[in-house]
Parts: sequence; structure tokens; C-alpha cells
Amino acid sequence: MKSAKIVGLGKYLPPKRLKNSDLEKIVDTTDQWITTRTGIKERRIAMDSSSSELAHRAAKRALKDAGLKADDLDLIIVASITPDNFFPSTACRLQNLIKARNAAAFDISAACSGFVYGLTCAWQLIGGGLYKNVLVVGSEVLSSITDWKDRSTCVLFGDGAGAAVLTQTNKKSFLSAHLGADGSRGNLLHIPAGGSRMPATCQTVDQNLHTIKMKGNELFRVAVRIMVDAAKVALSKADLKTKDLDLLVPHQANKRIIDAVAKTLKIKDKVYYNLARYGNMSSASCAVALCEAYQKAKVKKGDIVVLDTFGGGLVWGSCVLKWTL
Ligand code: UT7
Repeated sequence: MKSAKIVGLGKYLPPKRLKNSDLEKIVDTTDQWITTRTGIKERRIAMDSSSSELAHRAAKRALKDAGLKADDLDLIIVASITPDNFFPSTACRLQNLIKARNAAAFDISAACSGFVYGLTCAWQLIGGGLYKNVLVVGSEVLSSITDWKDRSTCVLFGDGAGAAVLTQTNKKSFLSAHLGADGSRGNLLHIPAGGSRMPATCQTVDQNLHTIKMKGNELFRVAVRIMVDAAKVALSKADLKTKDLDLLVPHQANKRIIDAVAKTLKIKDKVYYNLARYGNMSSASCAVALCEAYQKAKVKKGDIVVLDTFGGGLVWGSCVLKWTL
């Protein structure tokens, strides 16, 4: 039976830092409020770069780590809620940037769970025998859809990209995945205008309907339960228990959410955090966190690593990996 394993990881964080003290000058907020309510201290801002450009840098690093060339890729999947355009896809733009001439390419829209959705697709497409080498990228320029006058959201988000290269193997590395969605609660986190439901007009721009709107309180209440359930279901599908887990790499929306998930799962010292430095980067959060955990040797061969994500849609996704890198 064929399966997939991760053979390379890369990340790119744009150099421009936006600190909490900088935000104090833009909106009515304080470093103390942001730190205690979210755990975030600073985030990165892409300035003039698009999602495909951040993805390009992360992808090149992942390919180098994997020891593969762009021409070795059969498929590129990009997860993003800030694609360069509606179409062509950001994955097609990335394919052109890295010159992956033999790769098919498509985008995934699954918000903060996009990277896990992408990994799961890649794993199954490789396992089914269709493809051998697949690049999965989570890349976001959330600063482009942030309402910089709304203190309840603008302090939360940041820009960045993380990439993984997967290849075919006979060994079991992807042990399980659990993906879910609840479209009835899509209004908790969304951008109202710009799509076919409400195309862009002067009015939608005047009414500021092209930026992120979030009911943070309501999301907070469901986030912990959904993330705990997703991790537990994914582990049980792999015939594992919480105590078997070596590292949880969660979506980085809020430190209080991650702490609560860790407490409920009783894995407090087995969690990777990076949101203090980058904020919430949607699909890029889990991708960058996984890359960093690997680069900082927080995971070793044979470890059980659980990715656990949750976001607008609503969507959630968790997958269990036996680490092979
Ligand atoms: O990635 C996708 C998933 N995203 C999430 O899961 C996000 C989940 N939600 C959250 O992380 C939190 O709900 C937030 C961080 C967004 C907000 O934290 P909170 O503790 O739920 O605050 P709140 O919305 O209940 O607001 C409490 C108070 C309010 O003032 P009043 O009405 O009590 O006077 C807000 O106006 O804090 C005020 N507030 C702020 N004060 C200073 C809201 N934002 C700020 C701010 N600075 N930036």
C-alpha cells in the first residue's frame, strides 16, 4: 500500500515587524490588552508582496530541504484566504514562479485549516498512486484584508507562508486525518463582499465590506471544543490515545485557546506556540509552526505529531503523523 511522508519543510516571514506598541498608535489598544487577551506581541507585514510571492520563498526552502527540484513536483496545492486573484489560482502563479513545469496546481479555500486540508489531499492523492511528489503551501497576506480601524481584529493577524514537500513511501507516516465543517456558522468569521454574492461596488468599498469581520467571543467559545474533538477523533482513527502524542502543533489564533486545548487534553508541555511572534496567519500558522518545530528539533524520528486547526467556515482539521524527517 502506497502512502506519503513529509520530506522537506520551509517557511518565509516577511521582515517588517508590527509590534503591539505600533498598534497603540493606530487604534485604541494597549500592549497589555493584546498580550493578556491573545498572547501576541508582534506580527509580520508583507508590505508589497502577494501570497504567491511569500509562497515562492517558502516553497524554494522546502524543496531545498527535500533535496528535490521544482521539476520533480507533480502537484502544487496552495491554501489561502488571501489569494493573489480569484483566478488564476495562487498555485498556478506559484507553479510559474518556481518553474515547476510538470506540476498540476490548484488552490484550497479552507481558512485556518487550509494547510491540513491540503496535506490530507496530498497524502491521499499520493497514496492513491496518482502523484509522487506534492508541494503543499499555506500562504497569507492577511494585512491586505484587515480593517486597520477595528481594534477587535487588527491586533490579531499577520502575514507569512509555510510549505511542505510530500513524497511517496511504503512506510506509514500519515496515520490519520479528520476534517470537518459547519457552514451554518460561516457568519462568525468572514468577508462580506467581493465575491459573486456581493460583488465589489463603490458602496461595498464605502461600507468597508471587504475586510475581515469576526464575532470573536462566539468563535472563542466553540474553538476549544472543536479543536479538542478534532485531535481526539484523528488520534482514535490512528488507534492512538492522547498520551501517545509527542507534539501538538495547533492553529495559532489565541494563546488562551491553545492553553485550554492543552489543558483539556492534558498535554501542557507538548505544545508548539509561535503566535507571540507572528499572530494568527490563518493557513500559514500551522505550516510555519510545523516547520519551526522541525527546525528547532522539537520533533524527532518516530514521534507522534498532531496538527490541529480551526477557522472560518467553520472548518476544522487535524492529522496525525509519525515523524520521519
Ligand atoms: O483563526 C480563526 C479563529 N479565530 C479565533 O478563534 C478567534 C477567537 N476569539 C478570540 O481570540 C477572542 O475572542 C478575541 C481575542 C478576538 C477577543 O478577546 P475577548 O477576551 O473575547 O474580548 P471581547 O471581544 O470579549 O472584548 C472585551 C473587551 C471589550 O470591551 P467592553 O465591551 O468590555 O468594554 C472590547 O471592546 O475588550 C475590548 N477590546 C479591546 N480593548 C483593547 C476588544 N479589542 C480590544 C483591543 N484593545 N484590541
